[in-house]
Amino acid sequence: MAERTKITLDESQIPRRWYNVIPDLPSPPPPPLHPATLQPVGPDDLAPLFPMELIRQEVATESYIDIPAEVLEVYRLWRPTPLYRAHRLEKALGTPARIYYKYEGNSPVGSHKPNTAVPQAFYNAAEGTKRLTTETGAGQWGSALAFACAQFGLGCEVWMVRASYDQKPHRRTMMEIYGAAVHASPSRATTAGAKVLADEPDSPGSLGIAISEAVEAAGSSADTRYALGSVLNHVLMHQTVIGEEALAQFAAAGEPLPDLIVGCTGGGSNFAGLFLPFLREKLAGRPNPVIRAVEPTAAPSFTRGRYEYDFGDTAGFTPLMKMHTLGHDFIPDPVHAGGLRYHGMSPLLSHAYELGLFEAVAKPQRETFAAAVTFARAEGIVPAPEPSHAIAAVIEEAKRCAESGQPKVILFNLCGHGHFDMVAYERYLSGEMTDFELSAERIDAALARLPAAG
Ligand SMILES: Cc1ncc(COP(=O)(O)O)c(C=O)c1O
Repeated sequence: MAERTKITLDESQIPRRWYNVIPDLPSPPPPPLHPATLQPVGPDDLAPLFPMELIRQEVATESYIDIPAEVLEVYRLWRPTPLYRAHRLEKALGTPARIYYKYEGNSPVGSHKPNTAVPQAFYNAAEGTKRLTTETGAGQWGSALAFACAQFGLGCEVWMVRASYDQKPHRRTMMEIYGAAVHASPSRATTAGAKVLADEPDSPGSLGIAISEAVEAAGSSADTRYALGSVLNHVLMHQTVIGEEALAQFAAAGEPLPDLIVGCTGGGSNFAGLFLPFLREKLAGRPNPVIRAVEPTAAPSFTRGRYEYDFGDTAGFTPLMKMHTLGHDFIPDPVHAGGLRYHGMSPLLSHAYELGLFEAVAKPQRETFAAAVTFARAEGIVPAPEPSHAIAAVIEEAKRCAESGQPKVILFNLCGHGHFDMVAYERYLSGEMTDFELSAERIDAALARLPAAG
């Protein structure tokens, strides 16, 4: 059994419940605050943006929430996803480590993002929403929401970060195939976008700016709401189907549970989705894996940011969230991992990080592409630039195992494929790709503009 390459589950084994880690934590994360009153935000504050069921899930106190049958029906298109043993990568690295990866790239749009896009579209449709707005960095989330809206008959409007819009025109086409309207962000369609363009006409954009635009647009009509692809508690919870399946797959393989779990972090959802069910087991005293987040050196919120209340978007339209932040108007350099170009981090993960429940490292762009190419040549799958951060950290650890002789079991989330990222790969292969130096002065300048939160 241990020599299998692909550990698959039957459709009947798709998890029936999402896991909510909050009741299992030693303390709950600090609440989001209203920026004017500095009081915790209530359901009424969030109702213009989100349907009631998602607001309820955001503050849920129960450990599990049933997945609606209509959502399971759509999940069946690609779930359960396979767990791979990376035999060929292990051989290429000459490591005694046993490397596993959960592959989320076989969803219709090529990443983990539909795991939450589908329930978000479902609950919105059930409560009468006609149209959803959103931002997208890599284009993966925008594609996922466009696909999910098509499943439930909703309109969809996407603000795509300019740097990605220019590099990945086919992601835009994919969203349009599903029926979405797509803007490059910053755009002149919103006052938030027009303000950025007035100051910087060539702005590459950022997730923070695109969120401001999508939130502003959602406020423009009563039957339009907003959907976020990461960061929030309900999004992380929807992604726990990944870790629940992985636990079942390790049991099916008869393999000891991982010594190390790795995931890339933009807003934290794919990493959380993989490790939270393992953390539940760890908190219950069973396995004791090291858990490691990997972020880009261009947007190092865990490793160089501050744990403070800040806005989730650039214009300051969202509630204040206590999180690891580089400052809401910090614009990361235009690295190709567009999904990781976010100034902040999930408040839930930020809290867990402060509790010491996992560690974080940052990787520069070229190291992640070198790792992606090594991985692709061994395993065949061309990874998206975002999970290539996780791959870089896994290869680093596997090489350490080669030196020490330790046969560690390593699990990582291969949360998306890179089929739309060929421009980035071309730049890497031709030697044109650069790393960006992020000065302490730039971070300090953005952090100096943090909002006062008492
Ligand atoms: C393939 C891929 N991985 C990772 C991310 C980062 O998001 P998160 O940290 O929520 O998983 C994105 C976001 O767009 C993405 O598209």
